Amino acid sequence: MRIFSGIQPTGRKHLGNYIGAIRQYVEGQDRGEAIYCIVDLHAISVPYEPVELRDHVYDTAAILLAAGLDPDRCILFRQSDVREHTELTWLLSAVTSHGDLNRMTQFKEKSARQRELASAALFFYPVLQVADVLAYRAGDVPVGEDQRQHVELMREIARRFNERFGELLVEPEVRVPEVGARIMDLQEPTAKMSTTGGSEQGTVLVLDEPDVVRKKVMSAVTDSGSDVVRAPDKPGISNLIEILSVVRGVGTQEVEREFAGSGYGDFKRAVADAVVHYVAPVRERYAGLRGDEAGLERTLAAGAERARAIASATVAEVREAMGIGASGS
Ligand code: AMP
Ligand code: TRP
Repeated sequence: MRIFSGIQPTGRKHLGNYIGAIRQYVEGQDRGEAIYCIVDLHAISVPYEPVELRDHVYDTAAILLAAGLDPDRCILFRQSDVREHTELTWLLSAVTSHGDLNRMTQFKEKSARQRELASAALFFYPVLQVADVLAYRAGDVPVGEDQRQHVELMREIARRFNERFGELLVEPEVRVPEVGARIMDLQEPTAKMSTTGGSEQGTVLVLDEPDVVRKKVMSAVTDSGSDVVRAPDKPGISNLIEILSVVRGVGTQEVEREFAGSGYGDFKRAVADAVVHYVAPVRERYAGLRGDEAGLERTLAAGAERARAIASATVAEVREAMGIGASGS
């Protein structure tokens, strides 16, 4: 089984990214051939600083390695190093419906947030994401809930391509975790945790110091009542139950059973302790890795070389099937 996922370059990865996605990337290394990409080309679809972008790629690479990605057991690379992604984006745009792109929830949300320029790149963002995955004919895409619609688009485009040009591409399956696919902001538990839309205090960063993590969890908004149970009218407590369940590796019902009868205070203390222990080792390993930019660059370059070998073979077949370039070139 070939696994592919992509992640935006930023040093501000949060608990939602970790629980929803990064945890699954690490597990993917035991399940199959795992390929992970830091998507710097996606990052230019919103305003950004060129110098920071380069740094953020290293930040993200160091976080992923600190979280347990092992370059001997996966391919980790920077998207822009494998130019086949951009070429395939254009080729696949020929079988992409404009209406489908217009319906993408993330496009609607992100374009509404832009004050100066809602770029065409933001509109084309999903096509690049489709190309990322289809270039590797990956069968499995581990992501958080917010990416489900983009993976459905991959299936649609692969299907349309195969019908028109022959069975060449693979329709990938989405892999969303059963618990923790949508971690909510601790201050506004009806909104997903996010570094762009969420609250500072409600977003636990993987690189936050332990006392900061503790403070953020202890000041999480809870709901009326005092029972530690999951319920639609208890978004704050439900979110903390999901977080503790994942972090401890036990079921949500087990968490509810353990805290039946105890108050919110004790429960939040337990969540805070568990989250501190969960992210602290990543922060510690990160510090050692991030300092060695030359080493990170070598890891990314070696990953890109392996990735390119796969992607270039797919793009060559796609060009041939679509009548692009001289035959057999
Ligand atoms: P990004 O940082 O936007 O590239 O997201 C990286 C991964 O984290 C994607 O697979 C997202 O679906 C996932 N993700 C982002 N926010 C959350 C969240 N609040 N809960 C769970 N997963 C998330
Ligand atoms: N758009 C994804 C996000 O914001 C990142 C991404 C880019 C991705 N390419 C991908 C995810 C390919 C899965 C597969 O999180």
